[in-house]
Amino acid sequence: MAKLGVNVDHVATLRQARGGQEPDPVIAAARCEMAGADSIVAHLREDRRHIQDRDLTRLRESIHTRLDMEMAATDEMVGIACDLKPEICTVVPERRAELTTEGGLDVAGQHAALAPRIRRLREAGIVVSLFVEPSPEQIKASRDVGANFVELHTGTYANLCGADQIKELARIREAALLADALGLGVNAGHGLNYHNIQPLVAIPQIQEYNIGHSIMARAVFHGLERAVADMRALIPRHTAEKSRP
Ligand code: PXP
Repeated sequence: MAKLGVNVDHVATLRQARGGQEPDPVIAAARCEMAGADSIVAHLREDRRHIQDRDLTRLRESIHTRLDMEMAATDEMVGIACDLKPEICTVVPERRAELTTEGGLDVAGQHAALAPRIRRLREAGIVVSLFVEPSPEQIKASRDVGANFVELHTGTYANLCGADQIKELARIREAALLADALGLGVNAGHGLNYHNIQPLVAIPQIQEYNIGHSIMARAVFHGLERAVADMRALIPRHTAEKSRP
């Protein structure tokens, strides 16, 4: 069964705009779970612009599904993850000036820096997923560096339309097939919404979709539980169960 991970960073962004306590991403996570989310994703950025360390501790204590900690591949973040023990760490590139995660991780170019950090996470019992462009080079490098999963970056696909989008969809399909053939699990995310997810869900190798912004945008008008349930309903339950954490 393909799964839906809901990213609650955007709830924390709204809270940080006033520096108070609401809206609380931990309450949001509980509502997402009640509406059918299969995991909760939270990105602890180095600049702590949205999710705070305490949010992660509270999420760890309260969620009933799985916690996916998004993070940069730094020693600080690896240390936090090893203490927190999320089920999954999704490793992303991070630049301070960016609005959101902009590109995929250059796994091929950073093997030496990534390998020991991935090993540490895996030794702590954490499943490691690398957020990469859907390119054969990055997928092979992800296998070589010891990751369990790749999360295919769907941002380019989401920003295209027409024939260009169909071409990018084919690239994602090829990448999913390659990752699966190499023994990696396959997730996908970034920029996905209620429309552009529909062609993607026909790719059976994709095991989980990690989505934040479009769900929170719909929640403003329809409420969070309905926004999550509407997205959940678009994800078919046909994908074979594989090496899920
Ligand atoms: N996956 C990863 C690795 C991300 O960095 C993000 C953005 O935080 C998402 C998924 C969710 O993207 P969006 O908010 O555009 O749905």
